Amino acid sequence: MQFLAILHNRNRPYCVVFVLLFFCLEKNVYFCRQFKIKDKIEMGKVILTGDRPTGKLHLGHYVGSLRRRVQLQNAGDYDRMFVFMADVQALTDNADNPEKIRQNIIEVALDYLAAGLDPEKCVLFIQSQIPELAELTTYLMNIVSVSRVQRNPTVKTEIKMRGFEGESIPLGFFCYPVSQAADILLFKSTTVPVGEDQEPMLEVTREIARRFNQIYAEVFPEPNILLPENLTARRLPGTDGKEKMSKSLGNCIYLSDSADEVWQKVRSMYTDPEHINLNDPGHVEGNAVFTYLDAFSCDEDFAAFWPEYQNLDELKAHYQRGGLGDMKCKKFLNQVLNKFLEPMRERRAEFEKDIPEIYNILKKGTAQAREVGAQTMDEVRKAMRIDYFNDVELIRQQAEKYAK
Ligand code: TRP
Repeated sequence: MQFLAILHNRNRPYCVVFVLLFFCLEKNVYFCRQFKIKDKIEMGKVILTGDRPTGKLHLGHYVGSLRRRVQLQNAGDYDRMFVFMADVQALTDNADNPEKIRQNIIEVALDYLAAGLDPEKCVLFIQSQIPELAELTTYLMNIVSVSRVQRNPTVKTEIKMRGFEGESIPLGFFCYPVSQAADILLFKSTTVPVGEDQEPMLEVTREIARRFNQIYAEVFPEPNILLPENLTARRLPGTDGKEKMSKSLGNCIYLSDSADEVWQKVRSMYTDPEHINLNDPGHVEGNAVFTYLDAFSCDEDFAAFWPEYQNLDELKAHYQRGGLGDMKCKKFLNQVLNKFLEPMRERRAEFEKDIPEIYNILKKGTAQAREVGAQTMDEVRKAMRIDYFNDVELIRQQAEKYAK
C-alpha cells in the first residue's frame, strides 16, 4: 500500500527512474558476473591427472584411466593436458621409504610413454618439483575444516588399510586431499580423468574452488571428474578374482610384464569354482576371465582370434550352457591382452634405451608446468592481498599515512 502511495505522489517519475536504474545495474552486474565466470571457465579445457609413483602401472590403471588419457590426448580437444607423478602424495604414507618413490618415478614414466602419452601433446611432470603446489596447499588449508577432511571416505578407507589409527595418522597424509585440490587448481584444470575412488577428492576440490572464489576473487574454475566409461573399467578385479587389482594383494598384471609372465598369470586366473567338468554350466559373474573380457575385448578380437563366436555375448552363452573349457577362454584372453600389451612392450623397450632422455622429458615438462603454476600463484597472491611488493598503491598509502 505504501509503495502504491509513493507511486501516486508527485515523486513518481523519480521513483520509476530509480527503480529502472536499479534494475539495470543489478542486471548488468549479473551479466558481467555470468560473463566473467563463463569466460574464465570456457577459456579452455584443461585436463589434469596423475598417479602416485609407488609401483609399476597395471591393467587396473590402464582401463581405469590410462587408456582414456591417451584417447583424450589424441583427440586433441583441450587447450592443455597435464599428467604428473604425485610423489609428494606418495610420500605422505611412505615417509620412511623415499627410495621406493625415487625408484618408481622412472617406472611410471616408462609406463606412460609406452602407453602412448606423448610429451609433445601433454605435459609430463613431477609434483615435488613444483614449489608453487606446496605454497597453494598452505593457503587452501585455511579454507577447509578438519572435519571436512575427516569425512572423506577415501581417506577413511586408506587410514584403515594402512593401519594408521588415531594418534599415528601422519598430518601430511591427513591433509593430502587439500594438496590434491592444489594439484588440480594450480593448473586451473577443468577436467580430471580418474577412477571413482577419487570422487570425494574432486568434491572437496570443487568446494575449495568455490570458497576461494567467493572469499577472494574469481580465480579457479570448478573442475569436473571424468569417470571411466563402464563399470568393469572402474574397478578391475585382481587375477585372483578379489575385488581390486592392487600391488599389495599381489594379483596384478603389469603393463610391463613379458608375454610369458602375462600368460602365467592368465593361466592361473580365478574363474568359476563350480565349473569343474567341461560340461558343467559355468558362471560368468564374478569370473575374473569374463570380467577381463568385458573390460578388454571387442568384436574384432573375435574375428581375429576366435571366429567361432561373433562377440562376447555368444561366448558367454556357450560358457553358461556348459561344454566350454576355461583354458580356451584363457588363451583367448591372453591374445586379447597381448594385442595392446605387445606394442606397449616394444615402445617401452625403445624408451628404455635412453633413460637420461626420459628424465629430460620430465624436466622439460616440469619447467612448463611451473610456468603455468607461477602465473596462477601471481593471481592467487593478488586475490589474497599478499602481493605486497607489486602493490604500488599499498606502498603509496602506507607512505602517506606515515608522512603525517
Ligand atoms: N590420488 C591420486 C591417486 O591415488 C593421485 C593424484 C594426486 C591425482 N593428485 C592428483 C589424481 C590430482 C588426479 C588429480 O591415484
